[in-house]
Amino acid sequence: MAQTGFSPNPMKLPPFFEEDRLAVDAHLEKLLPAESVQPPSIHTAMRYSVFAGGKRIRPILCLETARIFGTDVSAALYPGCAIEFIHTYSLIHDDLPALDNDDLRRGKPTSHKKFGEATAILAGDALLTQAFETIAATPVSAERRVAMVTEIATAAGTVKGMVGGQVADLEAEGKPVSPEMLEYIHRSKTAALIRASITAGALCAGAPAEDVARLRRFGETIGWAFQVTDDILDVEESSAALGKTAGKDIAQQKATYPAVYGLERSHQIAKELADKGIAELGAYGERANRLRTIAEFLVLRRA
Ligand code: IPE
Ligand code: IPE
Ligand code: MG
Ligand code: MG
Ligand code: MG
Repeated sequence: MAQTGFSPNPMKLPPFFEEDRLAVDAHLEKLLPAESVQPPSIHTAMRYSVFAGGKRIRPILCLETARIFGTDVSAALYPGCAIEFIHTYSLIHDDLPALDNDDLRRGKPTSHKKFGEATAILAGDALLTQAFETIAATPVSAERRVAMVTEIATAAGTVKGMVGGQVADLEAEGKPVSPEMLEYIHRSKTAALIRASITAGALCAGAPAEDVARLRRFGETIGWAFQVTDDILDVEESSAALGKTAGKDIAQQKATYPAVYGLERSHQIAKELADKGIAELGAYGERANRLRTIAEFLVLRRA
C-alpha cells in the first residue's frame, strides 16, 4: 500500500468511516498505475497527491448512499474512487500559482512544489482522465454506467459544476460579492461534486428516479454546508490542523461566508443547511443513519 501521511481527523468517528476509508484506499491502490509504469514521473505525481491523506468524504458518501439500496456496495467503489480522482485533480490545480498559489496540501508540499508546474498540471489532467476510465469499468449495466458518467461529468464541468465555480471564485477575488454570487460559487465549485458522490452511489445501486432526485437535494445542500465550513475553518484553525495554509482566504480577499456574513452567522448557516439536507432523509428511517452521521460530521469537523 502506498504511504498514508497526514490524517485530518480529530473527531471520534464511528467505525464505518475507517472501514470505508480502508476499502477506498485499497481500491485506489488497485486502480492507479504503479510508479514504475512508463512514464514513472506522472504516476509518481498522481500517487503522491492521491495518497497524501485526504478525508475520503466523497467516496464514503458514495458507498453509504449505495448501502441504502443493497448490502453489496463493492461496485460503488468505482464511482467513489473516480470522484476522489477528480477531487484530487481539482486540489492540485486549485493550488497552482495561477490559481490559489498554495504550498501545503494534505500536510505535504503541493504537487507543483514537489514536482514542478508542468508535472502538476499533467497529474491533474491524468487523474481526471483516469476517473472516466474507472467509471466505465464499474461492474454494473451499461445503462447505469452512462447515467453515472453524465452525473459526474456535469458536476465537474462548467455549467453549475466545479470548473465553473472555480472560474467564478477566481474572478470574485478582491471584489465585493453579492450573496447570490457567493451561493453560486459554493454550490458550483464544491457542492456539485459532493452531490454527484451521492447520486452516483444511488445510480450505481439502481435506485429509482424518485430516490435519486431526493438524494440529489440532500447532496447539494450538505455539499454547500461543507464549503461554508471550509471557509470557517480557514479562519478558525491552524495550518497544522488543516494540513493546508490557514488564513489564505482573507489574504487573497476570497469570496467566503465569513467575509460576507461574519463567523457567527456562517456557523448558523452551515448548521441550517446541514439540517435542511438531513430532513430529506426522513423517508429512509434508520437505513440513512450513516448518511446522517456523515452530514453532521461535515459541519462539526475541525479539519
Ligand atoms: C477541500 O476538500 C477542498 C474543498 C472542496 C473545500 P476536502 O476538505 O474534502 O479535502 P481532503 O480530500 O480531505 O484533503
Ligand atoms: C476549493 O475551494 C474548491 C475546489 C474545487 C478545489 P478552496 O480553494 O477553498 O479549497 P482549499 O481551501 O484550497 O482546500
Ligand atoms: Mg480555491
Ligand atoms: Mg484553495
Ligand atoms: Mg478553502
